[in-house]
Amino acid sequence: MNPIAARIGGFIVALALLSGCATQSPTTRATSTPPPVDALVANGETPALLDPALLENIPVTVKSETTYSPPVFAVWPQFGKPKIDAAISAYYRQHIAKSADQGADSDPGKAPAELNLDWHLIGSSPSMIGIVADGYRDNGESLQLNWRTLWFDLSTDTVYDNAGLVDETATKAALQVAASQRVVQVPSLDLSKVGANPVADASLLAFSPSGALIVGFEACQVAACDAGRVTITVAKAEADKVLREPGQRAQVATQAPRDPVGANLPTATPPAPSGAPANGSTRVNVNCKKAKCIALTFDDGPGPYTTKLLGYLRQSQTPATFFMLGQQVQSFPKVARAVAADGHEVGVHTWSHPQLTRLSPAQIDRQLNSTINVLQAKAGVTPTLLRPPYGATNATVRAEAKKAGLAVILWNVDTLDWKTLSTSKTIAAAVHDTRRNSIILVHDIHPTSVEAVPGIISALRAKGYTFVTVTQLIGKPLPGKQYRSGKS
Ligand code: NI
Repeated sequence: MNPIAARIGGFIVALALLSGCATQSPTTRATSTPPPVDALVANGETPALLDPALLENIPVTVKSETTYSPPVFAVWPQFGKPKIDAAISAYYRQHIAKSADQGADSDPGKAPAELNLDWHLIGSSPSMIGIVADGYRDNGESLQLNWRTLWFDLSTDTVYDNAGLVDETATKAALQVAASQRVVQVPSLDLSKVGANPVADASLLAFSPSGALIVGFEACQVAACDAGRVTITVAKAEADKVLREPGQRAQVATQAPRDPVGANLPTATPPAPSGAPANGSTRVNVNCKKAKCIALTFDDGPGPYTTKLLGYLRQSQTPATFFMLGQQVQSFPKVARAVAADGHEVGVHTWSHPQLTRLSPAQIDRQLNSTINVLQAKAGVTPTLLRPPYGATNATVRAEAKKAGLAVILWNVDTLDWKTLSTSKTIAAAVHDTRRNSIILVHDIHPTSVEAVPGIISALRAKGYTFVTVTQLIGKPLPGKQYRSGKS
């Protein structure tokens, strides 16, 4: 399968600053079976992704940027270490700015390009963490893929570039040998294309579970563009000769990953049984024919601020509906379980937040079912609702939602909390726009939004409204049917 097409399907793209090569290969739209959503795809070996829940015991927060038009979804981790956090944020912000600049040059008659940036864990230990910054930009005609590894030591607040991990000269020689042994797969492979120092320009430097060194390049950097992203693997025996001491730590963090605080992989807590929540105190029986019902909904989590939000909802005995991203559930499984255990409704917001109207049916199916599966496994719930990212739906999205057993839930009150990032404006918008049967949209990945929730609840209760879950508001959800409020 065309590796770029495969990557579109999985929506596991990586992103990197292209140091010499600004052009990207035009790609055809993918129609073949997409790969799993949680795998990196390239022409060559890719690093295995670790369970991001390995980081659950350290204070990882999330920075995010979301806009609807142009569609931008970017989320990246922060570790409370000034140098590491600055390096990670700078990397993502540079890509967001670059995409905006490209958008300014494009034909105003065309749909705006979609930008999606996320991250994956590839190494974890008390002395080294590795992530792949991962992303795509889709302008409707072609897809730009980027990836870049970031390696850092939390204990010393140190970020390592490629030269800090390996001896560049020795690695270049080892890469040339390894490349010469794989020309059958990539006939056009030519390391000299990228310049005198391919190791410095490589956007991915990682390890296989066996300890081999994987060096990766963007499309067009070291081979013909149609070869897609290319990786070259240096066997462990040769890799061991070129690693510097921090590189050895990165290798160990890949081969024997551990919680960065030193514990072993957290053991999976058995999920709450489906059906009745364990202590679902927030949900009450309400007759919405009599009561002025409204539904408060939260998108893009669970995340670092969701636990605080759960406290507010518990204190005020307010049921809500959470539309979760599969990749966030994987990173914050305990929080996802706690949401369900508190009696809130849990729905699907896709795995990685793509604009579904740009995807093939098979790709949509993968986005929905992977998220349903992770919610069943980690939170013990079987969702019946889909909130499509950006509210983007069409007949194909509704048909795939129907097949997956999901009703499509939009909203009629947009607090624009993602745009204002203002607690007072978020409260004001919710209170001003809400009517009987409203579905209110808030995002629990912004701390300003979470802080708005007590004010929203008290102001709307004072106006006589009763908070219910989406299913309580609309009645039994019909798969494939689209709802914007309780009256549709
Ligand atoms: Ni969203």
